[in-house]
Formats: sequence, C-alpha cells, structure tokens
Amino acid sequence: MKRLTSLVFSPTGGTQKVTDILAEELMVELMNHEGLQIVETAYLNLCDRLIDFSMTELTEHDICLISVPSYGGRVPTTAVERLSQIKGNGAQAILVAVYGNRAFEDTLVELEDVANEAGFKPVAAVAAIAEHSVVRDFAAGRPNGFDRRQLTTFAKKIAARLALLKANPSENKLDLKLPGNRPYKEFKGAPTYGVPDDTCVNCGICAAQCPVGAIDEKDPSKVDESLCIACKRCTVVCPTNSRALKPEVLEASRKFLSQHIKEDKINELF
Ligand SMILES: Cc1cc2nc3c(=O)[nH]c(=O)nc-3n(C[C@H](O)[C@H](O)[C@H](O)COP(=O)(O)O)c2cc1C
Repeated sequence: MKRLTSLVFSPTGGTQKVTDILAEELMVELMNHEGLQIVETAYLNLCDRLIDFSMTELTEHDICLISVPSYGGRVPTTAVERLSQIKGNGAQAILVAVYGNRAFEDTLVELEDVANEAGFKPVAAVAAIAEHSVVRDFAAGRPNGFDRRQLTTFAKKIAARLALLKANPSENKLDLKLPGNRPYKEFKGAPTYGVPDDTCVNCGICAAQCPVGAIDEKDPSKVDESLCIACKRCTVVCPTNSRALKPEVLEASRKFLSQHIKEDKINELF
C-alpha cells in the first residue's frame, strides 16, 4: 500500500495539468499491482512561499511526482531551493519537466541531481509539453487529448517499472540516462512580469500569490526585480485580467520563439 505525493511548481497551471493526468492514470494502473495500490494522495505546492519546506519528510513508502516547468532549459531556481529543503528519505520519484514546445535541455538532469541530493530515488522521468506561459499561442491548448493518451501510456509503463522494482529491489539503483548536460547551461532570463493597467482594483491577489513575494502588497505596480523569477503567475491569477507583459517584451519573446519552434514536439518517457 502506497501514498502518491505530487510536489509541483506550477506558476501558471500547465505543469499542474500534466501532473494531474499522470497522477490520475498512475493510480488506476497501480490498482492492479499487488502491494502498490495507492491508499492516500498528498500534494505539496512548491509555489507557496509561506510553506516551511524543511518540515516535509517523505518515506520509502511514498511514490512522488516531482514536477517543474523548464525555464531557459533549467529547473526554476525557486523550485531548486524548495526541493533541496525536503527530505526524500528514499521515496521513489518520477521526475516531470514541462516545457512550452521549444526545448527542455538540461531541466531533467538538473532535476535528477536535485532529487538525488534531497534523498529521493528517481525511477522514471517524463518531458511533456504545455502551453507556453510567456506567449500563450505556442503549444496553445496543450496538454490536449493526444497528450493525455500519450501520458496514459507512460503511466502504464511507469506502473510496470514500479512493479518490477518491487519484485527486484536490488535493481533500485537505476541509471535513467536522461538527455542533458552537466554543467548545466546558464540561465539567461530577465525579470519580465505583468504590468497592471488602469483596470487594476488593488485586490492584492497577485502580491499574495507571487511565488517569491516580489510584488508590493500595498502598490501592486511596484515589483522588486531582484526577486522576480519571470514566472507570469501574476498575469494568470489576476481576477480582472489587469496584468499583462509590456507589448515590446511580448513581441521580442514571440520573435524568439517563432525562430526556435518549427513543429509540435511530442512527450517523452525516460
Ligand atoms: C521564464 C520562463 C522561461 C521559459 N523557458 C522555456 C524554455 O526554455 N523552453 C520551453 O520550451 N519553454 C519555456 N518556457 C515555457 C514553460 O516551460 C511552459 O509554458 C510551462 O508549461 C510553464 O509551466 P506552468 O504553466 O506550470 O507555469 C518558459 C517560461 C517562462 C515563464
């Protein structure tokens, strides 16, 4: 009997969608595997800056989905910091990197290192596509029905892998052979965030929901650029749709992505 714990950093919801599909399908698949049935699910929101992550301790009876978006081909620094505080204690981990159809580059190898360092045992990894959170017409609507079918197939294979590891615990030291390089590529992102227009009602939701507390609670037009991680959560949580990227920032990103995204990528299982 197992607990399935999702540890998710998903500022704009795409990583969450992929994780929810994998978790749902894994639960169904594991129902048929003796001793691996999920009796409990748990969720840890890595975007919540009020959580003391050092208080989170997993056990070897946990199966975890550790899910992050790819930022410039890397794991977002905030996710690295928060995951590093958690005690994995031998919990099996399925690593999930979600990206906006350009490339995930070193995200999975970095996530593997962070998970190992925190005491998790990575047993599988998934690279999946979701809507691009900077320019939303790239990979628009993904994960879609086709992605769901692919992720379902992955869940079946991961369940079979977990069953094999249960039967042969000596094989627990796996080499996942993930794509990516060490040292990782340098992250070259800039603090680009949604700027509020005159429809902003000062409700404070963007400030409260910012994963790093970069937005001033009294005056949401003030953003501490030294803290901002460019995640775009402020643009999606705003109930009046008042926050948007500056047009010139959006256009520059669109131009860059148009040059680098030529076809629809497919999800991958490792
Ligand atoms: C700062 C930043 C950097 C990003 N870098 C990449 C990238 O290198 N490759 C890519 O394909 N998508 C990139 N994306 C898109 C996200 O990885 C993708 O939209 C992901 O689904 C966002 O996750 P979320 O919806 O859970 O926030 C980036 C997005 C942001 C905000």
